[in-house]
Amino acid sequence: MRRKIIIDTDPGQDDAIAILLALAAKDKLELLGITAVAGNVPLELTTKNALKILEVAKETNIAVFSGCKAPLKRKLVTAEHVHGPTGLNGPQLAEPKIKQQDQHGVDFIIDTLRQHPEKTITLCPLGPLTNIASAIIKAPDIVEKIDEIVLMGGAYFEVGNVTPAAEFNFYVDPEAANIVMCSGIKITMMPLDVTHQVLTTKERSQKFANLGNETGKIIYHWVKYFKKFDEEKYKSDGAPLHDPCVIAYLLKPDLFSGRKINVRIETNSELTRGMSVADYWGITDEKDCPRNVNFMRHVDDEGFYQLLFDYLKKLP
Ligand code: BDR
Ligand code: CA
Repeated sequence: MRRKIIIDTDPGQDDAIAILLALAAKDKLELLGITAVAGNVPLELTTKNALKILEVAKETNIAVFSGCKAPLKRKLVTAEHVHGPTGLNGPQLAEPKIKQQDQHGVDFIIDTLRQHPEKTITLCPLGPLTNIASAIIKAPDIVEKIDEIVLMGGAYFEVGNVTPAAEFNFYVDPEAANIVMCSGIKITMMPLDVTHQVLTTKERSQKFANLGNETGKIIYHWVKYFKKFDEEKYKSDGAPLHDPCVIAYLLKPDLFSGRKINVRIETNSELTRGMSVADYWGITDEKDCPRNVNFMRHVDDEGFYQLLFDYLKKLP
């Protein structure tokens, strides 16, 4: 049976590749809808970008919903310096012809979970967790309905990418991240510790261009655009492909390995705002700090890229 998923996202070039991977993997995944959230760029742009990505894949029947335009308690922080002023800079993409739905993204998440049997839907957050936390606050009954949340966010050994202490998605909305982490829902987390192992090297970038389809060429130009920033910062050959780790995990979990540990998010300190405090070494007492997260630590990077190439070449 195909796994039913909702992708919650702030595209972002790496979000875009994650969405395309899910669309290419119809044999395993059924994408029920996409909810946009403010993050890499403001909500209006992340919503528009989600529509553009569907048009790239010629999957114009998937519904896109606009969600929360600001974090629960903070002013929005964006990342145009990485993703460009549109959030999806690189190739020239036309303005989308398809339109978003009228329903709010948070209500779509709630209604969809309520309409389906318990534990049949997986949520895949690729941006700040504002929409997911808002849905939990508005409709606590959905906690029991969610099968699993597989998300990109946080870090432990790699610590931070937007501040010395925090990863971008958790930094933008730490209160939302903490609500999700403490919800009791089964969570699998793809932190920077994993995503920093899947670099878009020169060879891999070129392989996208040579997939033999238009989508591959578009991906090549996205990667070319955003990797400049990370290559300069990390002095690396290529940039981490963060968000596709979430979808790759759904398709081939054996590529990843990690531990079930306690993770909580810092919400009080300014210095370490959004830090994911991960008890990797099992120091805390299980009674006070239950093991709430399946924390991924290692990935087979060659296997990851092979999976991406094999699926993405199926797209138009
Ligand atoms: C995360 O932040 C965004 O810039 C990326 O899309 C990814 O979700 C990495 O920290
Ligand atoms: Ca993202």
